[in-house]
Amino acid sequence: MQKLPLKIGLLGLGTVGSGVVKILQDNQESISIKVGRGVEVVKALVRNPDLPRAVNCDSFTLTTDARDIIDDPEIDIVVEVMGSIEPARSYIIESLKSGKNVVTANKDLLALHGRELLDAAKEAGKDLLFEASVAGGIPIVAALKHSLAGNQIKQLAGIINGTTNYILTAMADQGRDYADVLKEAQDLGYAEADPSSDVDGLDAARKLAILASIAFGSRVTIHDVFTEGISKISKVDLAYARELDCSVKLLALAQEDEERIEVRVHPAFIPNSHPLSSVKGVFNAVYVVGDAVGETMFYGRGAGSLPTGSAVVSDLMQVAHNLETYANGSLNCTCYRQLEIKPVSEFKSAYYVRLNVKDEPRVLASLAHMFAEAGISFASIIQKPKPGQEAEIVLVTHPCQEGQLQQAVEYLKVYSKVLDICNIIRVEGGQSWSGRD
Ligand code: NAP
Ligand code: HSE
Repeated sequence: MQKLPLKIGLLGLGTVGSGVVKILQDNQESISIKVGRGVEVVKALVRNPDLPRAVNCDSFTLTTDARDIIDDPEIDIVVEVMGSIEPARSYIIESLKSGKNVVTANKDLLALHGRELLDAAKEAGKDLLFEASVAGGIPIVAALKHSLAGNQIKQLAGIINGTTNYILTAMADQGRDYADVLKEAQDLGYAEADPSSDVDGLDAARKLAILASIAFGSRVTIHDVFTEGISKISKVDLAYARELDCSVKLLALAQEDEERIEVRVHPAFIPNSHPLSSVKGVFNAVYVVGDAVGETMFYGRGAGSLPTGSAVVSDLMQVAHNLETYANGSLNCTCYRQLEIKPVSEFKSAYYVRLNVKDEPRVLASLAHMFAEAGISFASIIQKPKPGQEAEIVLVTHPCQEGQLQQAVEYLKVYSKVLDICNIIRVEGGQSWSGRD
């Protein structure tokens, strides 16, 4: 007897929801063969049903009442692609309680309430899958949960925000202005509803919290992640990066060190010889080092309708497979311990320090003395004359602890020949996290 199609209720029909509908429509035949039955969207929740939609909605109902989906006994799987914390959190919990499996792309929610949601799924004996919440179309959650499960993960380093990578690439390669490129990223559906989440690093921090929780088997939340955005990166810094044979990226780094987890998101210079430097535009990449597998890198589109929809649909198909084998709820939270979070003062990086100084004898020697007092040595120095007997100096340090750098900055602040501390940016991809220490 032919099985009835699986019925899907979408909470949201924006960029991602439309991608899900399009993939299910375009690949209907192959998906139903792989799953063993049809997969049909039957209802979609929206705020405004009169808005034009990117996909043909003739085959399903638009509703503005979430209860139409959560309470519909015919619906097997709820796909939450509406975003934000509430009401999405309540809708997911209510859907699980009403016996539905759930697929979500909502990193804001998982990075804050992951434990609560996964506990609710466990209690209900249902799946809560979230591949699309990290790095768009890259199957990194499945890779960490399944493919690399036999490893002790040592480090993760990623470019996991498409919008900021799109902006930094266009500024560096085409000399374009920040605001102009951000607008383009918004028009292309890459940016969050509030794009400050992207540019301030919060979106990447949320994704890193999710990845680190899985990689290290220990719950990490957004509050644990040290976060800096890209707003301080200027065209001058990008020009120096080029001169130093580096690229500037918003990096997300996580590593386990003596039973503590270090988690941070910030802009960084990385050498052009490192594989992550070639990740451009909206592309994302996650570099993972496992004790058995060694170095691996996962690469793909980190945002956008179809790449993200691809991840949602793969989760839908996993739920369908679990329904067939009565295995729903079999793999939820993978955290099995609770490790401490390493304090910022103990982070180790090299630094790019750009200063405006008086162009006078002994200034460079004094700078070297101050950094030496803080226990920091220089890897390279660039000096350029400026009008009015001033000079711009760029110091690149060898790796040191954040606390040492802060000590050197205190010395700089009180040295009268330093006119301006223009920028300080970490330099990564060398010995501090490449696994080559
Ligand atoms: P979006 O384009 O803004 O779409 C949101 C959809 O949800 C819209 O259809 C909206 O209805 C509906 N909605 C929002 N709040 C609602 C409410 N209170 N009641 C009823 N409907 C509501 O967002 P998106 O870019 O698709 O992102 C969706 C989720 O996926 C977010 O969690 C986001 O972080 C995540 N994500 C996005 C991407 C990406 O590339 N965009 C990638 C990965 C993950 P209307 O259409 O009527 O306004
Ligand atoms: N705004 C996010 C980004 C969408 O730019 O990466 C994908 O999560």
